[in-house]
Amino acid sequence: MAEKIHAILVPHPFQGHVNPAVHLAIKLASQGFIVTFINTHYIHHQITSKAPRPNGALVDDIFAGVRKSGLDIRYTTVSDGLPVGFDRSLNHDQYQSSLLHVFSSHVEEVVARMVAGGEKVNTLIADTFFVGHSKIARKFRLVCISFWTEAALVFSLYYHMDLLRLHGHFGCQDCREDPIDYIPGVKAIDPKDTMSYLQETDTSSVVHQIIFKIFEDVKLADSVLCNTIQEFESDTITALNTKIPFYSIGPIIPLRFNNGTVATSLWSESDCTQWLNTKPNGSVLYVSFGSYAHVSKTDLHEIAHGLSMSKVSFVWVVRPDIVSSDDADPLPSGFKEEIGERGMIIPWCCQMMVLSHPAIGGFLTHCGWNSILESIWCKVPLLCFPLLTDQVTNRKLVVDDWKIGIDLSRRKLVRKEEVAKNIERLMSEKSGRESREAIKKVKGTLEKALGPQGSSDKNMENFINNVKRLVCKDVSPP
Ligand code: UDX
Repeated sequence: MAEKIHAILVPHPFQGHVNPAVHLAIKLASQGFIVTFINTHYIHHQITSKAPRPNGALVDDIFAGVRKSGLDIRYTTVSDGLPVGFDRSLNHDQYQSSLLHVFSSHVEEVVARMVAGGEKVNTLIADTFFVGHSKIARKFRLVCISFWTEAALVFSLYYHMDLLRLHGHFGCQDCREDPIDYIPGVKAIDPKDTMSYLQETDTSSVVHQIIFKIFEDVKLADSVLCNTIQEFESDTITALNTKIPFYSIGPIIPLRFNNGTVATSLWSESDCTQWLNTKPNGSVLYVSFGSYAHVSKTDLHEIAHGLSMSKVSFVWVVRPDIVSSDDADPLPSGFKEEIGERGMIIPWCCQMMVLSHPAIGGFLTHCGWNSILESIWCKVPLLCFPLLTDQVTNRKLVVDDWKIGIDLSRRKLVRKEEVAKNIERLMSEKSGRESREAIKKVKGTLEKALGPQGSSDKNMENFINNVKRLVCKDVSPP
């Protein structure tokens, strides 16, 4: 009898990576996988201390709810190398450094314990950003799957960093500024649209070291699972497939968030449904800059004043560390009084619940990949304000290629007047029509991909067959 696939799943310990990893675990378990999900102590602590407690008790296993419905998802936690109470947002480099140097040895210990305990683990699915995943997989003879939670375009640009260096588009003091037109499957792209890390001249940062390491690692993986849709990035994916089996299986987003039984939020969710219920359809702008990036105080103030000038109603997620975790009240003084009932300011929410409310008509976003997929799913056009990393490249896909959104600003310093002007442009019945129509079409593509025999559905099936083949090959006698 064929051996059952038992995969250890390791997310990168950030909200934007934990979310898709949790939903991937559920997807795979519904296909018959046994999944052991490894969260860090810190992520586990954040989620469980912020989640609602129906019986007053702390949840000690975030998957307990789905297990009741028959899914075999096991759960464990490990240290990322730092104390739980350490402020990772304020000490970003130290956190990244711990992920670069320490985290993987803790995960390795868990894998070793499971193997020594006789558990029949045969597959490792790790977020591509998890340093050393192919090394651990090789050591314990596990099929190695790299999980890329971002766009295939972003993956491809990182994958071809050597080519970019060779052509003088990356890693030099005076890099070329003409379009990059030699990456297989990628149409000519302006260097300004590449990820922020590829645009920096100093490549000695911790994050650069991580990126260099993981893209050596990923080349040794058996395959890549990507949270994108084939139809969105078909040429890029085809070209990547000549290098490594690359399966686009997106969108992996919480589609059933209303009765979702797995808590994932690192902050307590505020409920704005009552307030949204009082607003006309399509009239409210949702504003959020994701879970990780910081906004400078100057930009934050210009955005606040722009929102105020625009006269549009809005829900704004102002994360407690949006500027810095040591700046508790970063909004301009008097702002809350000025906007009164027109705006709702909250620290965090269930984003899918907000986006799917009929009152929402636009999303001012930092262009995080999850946010983009979720917004497409809810047919909410985007107003783009990328901050760093892949968000810069995602903006290009949204605005230039798919035309499902517009730019908030293309200048270094955003001005309140253009914030107000572009909010009105996106939200107006007439000028926002192009983005609204385009996003409806893109949503159709996305739904089709997920449907029976759609591209993501088929790719998932091919992926599973491939893993089964590799597992059998590995366990059969030589
Ligand atoms: C970062 C990168 O920016 C992103 O592109 C990459 O894919 C993952 O790492 P982040 O900045 O947090 O992620 O943005 P995003 O990808 O949009 O993920 C944020 C997640 O948090 C989304 O799933 C969103 O639904 C959720 N969220 C955000 C909430 O649940 N509530 C909120 O109030 C805000």
